[in-house]
Amino acid sequence: MALRSPPKERVRQFWDQNPCGTSGNPHPPSTHEFFRWVESERDLREPFIAQFAQWTEWRDQRVLEMGVGAGTDHVKFIRAGAKCFGVDVSTSSVALTHQRLRFEDLQGKLSVSDVEDLPFPDDYFDFVYSWGVIHHTENTAKAAREALRVLKPGGRFCIMIYHRYSLVCLQAKLVYGLLRGRPFRSLDSIARDHLESFGTKVFSNRQALALFPGQSARVTNVMTPYDLRYARHRFLPPLLGRLLPSFLGYFLVVEGTKGDRATDAG
Ligand SMILES: C[S@@+](CC[C@H](N)C(=O)[O-])C[C@H]1O[C@@H](n2cnc3c(N)ncnc32)[C@H](O)[C@@H]1O
Repeated sequence: MALRSPPKERVRQFWDQNPCGTSGNPHPPSTHEFFRWVESERDLREPFIAQFAQWTEWRDQRVLEMGVGAGTDHVKFIRAGAKCFGVDVSTSSVALTHQRLRFEDLQGKLSVSDVEDLPFPDDYFDFVYSWGVIHHTENTAKAAREALRVLKPGGRFCIMIYHRYSLVCLQAKLVYGLLRGRPFRSLDSIARDHLESFGTKVFSNRQALALFPGQSARVTNVMTPYDLRYARHRFLPPLLGRLLPSFLGYFLVVEGTKGDRATDAG
């Protein structure tokens, strides 16, 4: 798929080279051991995902995952019996997810597509899920509108994006602002240049809700092991994380139900 925008191409290159959740994997790529490691790391670091994804609730329902990455959440929806569709802009991420489905003999429909321009009709899905994706795309509001467009009225969405008033952002401000002699550098510029792929954005709860105007939606902030990283691959133990206030957590999850009236496409 050709991408017309250079920033988007840069995002794609980043994730092609660093498929999500695979860094530090000691096993040869695309082997059973490789995927088992990816899954166990995720279960260890992000056990709270289950409470949002609700895998078993979507049996026989049509689910879209926007930004499948290496496919860890995706396989869980399919194992639980959902009719799954997945997109990602990164070719290597989609290839990894494909491989994973093949290993487990699971059926899913994957495509290399842009979350800002989803290749699906209006009102098609029962559930639209996206974990840590739409803050990486150039036009996050457009991706949110696409999520609502393809969702059936009464369908549910669950979208995780990064939280600006979090310990991760505070540390980034210290490291890339204060310690580099740039105390007035904005968090937006730090996030753009230093939080994973180029152009990453971070949101307040209010800004996150504003991405889904006119919908009944709520926000949950989640404290994550990434909120206190003490070395490149060393994170806060999950149990300790529970002692910290969740409102300072890096993950901001917006969950809601699509109203009968479509939102203004703007
Ligand atoms: C942090 S990873 C999250 C992946 C997966 N949801 C997970 O939790 O492991 C971000 C993903 O978003 C994808 N992405 C970024 N911009 C995108 C876009 N415009 N369209 C589709 N996928 C995009 C990247 O390729 C990458 O796989």
